[in-house]
Amino acid sequence: MCSPYPKVACAATVESIQPVGTDVFSLVLVRQFTPVSTCGDRGIIPEPIPGQFFMLRARPSGVLLGRPISVYCYDDRTITFLILKKGKGTSELCSVSPGQQVDIIGPIGNCFLRPDSSEIEEVIKTAITPRTEESAELSVAVIGGGIGVAPVAGFALSLPPGTFDFYASFRTGTYGLDGIAAIAKNVIITTEDGSFGDRGMLSDVFNPELYDLVYACGPTPMLKYIQSACKNASRHPLVYLSLEQHMACGAGACLGCTIQTIHGNKRCCVDGPVFIAAEVIL
Ligand SMILES: Cc1cc2nc3c(=O)[nH]c(=O)nc-3n(C[C@H](O)[C@H](O)[C@H](O)COP(=O)(O)OP(=O)(O)OC[C@H]3O[C@@H](n4cnc5c(N)ncnc54)[C@H](O)[C@@H]3O)c2cc1C
Ligand code: FES
Repeated sequence: MCSPYPKVACAATVESIQPVGTDVFSLVLVRQFTPVSTCGDRGIIPEPIPGQFFMLRARPSGVLLGRPISVYCYDDRTITFLILKKGKGTSELCSVSPGQQVDIIGPIGNCFLRPDSSEIEEVIKTAITPRTEESAELSVAVIGGGIGVAPVAGFALSLPPGTFDFYASFRTGTYGLDGIAAIAKNVIITTEDGSFGDRGMLSDVFNPELYDLVYACGPTPMLKYIQSACKNASRHPLVYLSLEQHMACGAGACLGCTIQTIHGNKRCCVDGPVFIAAEVIL
């Protein structure tokens, strides 16, 4: 629904790679790419829309396929990703050097439906459990858990200042929050070890009764909690979840990223990664 731009499959040059947290790195790629064998043409990596992702693979690489990584932020010249080292693919991406090349395909997937979009009221009215209170302005929460902060922080930074609360939950320390405090109404941070913000988890600080619209990305247990807490809230917020599934092709062909929804099976890569919480079976 929201990719008006063509996808690219090319090799982009690493501008910088910096550690920003425990096993988390900020990878900055140059958007302008020069002719390479995979694409054969000069061009620019298209602007993504918040919520979209790219398939990334270091060059050279010991893995066959790219790994799905959300866009954290971008400007005219560069595009930035936050990457948590998990296995071989992400470890390779976190070990690149400036000047090295990274295979990149995208942008892929749908995006978050913005609170200021013309369609949002319609979606709320036709939601499985529609909002019970009519308020002039939608009350919005944006929530990131761990590396799931990357896509929601990029989305939050695109919203008008002072129109949302931002929640971020980590095991220890924080990352990916640049610029958020300057534009969020409130920033609420939890860490499990108490190293930053409130000690605890999202469930200790989040009140779903305060919101009409919730956007979230993070580990599945956190998303399950948000799905259930919002379903049971009398205010019935509309909730968008960005899901992280194993992916192979990233193109809708292999069905490796299939999830279950009340409308049947969906492919997380091309039908998502953003889904309405009340429609997915986690
Ligand atoms: C739409 C989308 C956006 C994502 N955005 C980001 C991002 O911005 N930054 C980031 O660091 N990661 C992101 N991920 C997760 C990232 O793609 C996986 O961590 C990565 O594919 C793991 O590859 P690997 O080769 O390093 O590890 P593997 O060797 O493939 O796996 C290592 C461990 O991670 C688990 N794992 C593998 N893939 C996933 C997955 N997709 N979700 C959860 N666990 C997984 C495996 O079960 C295994 O335990 C995103 C995933 C999706 C689907
Ligand atoms: S990753 Fe192949 S269909 Fe989604």
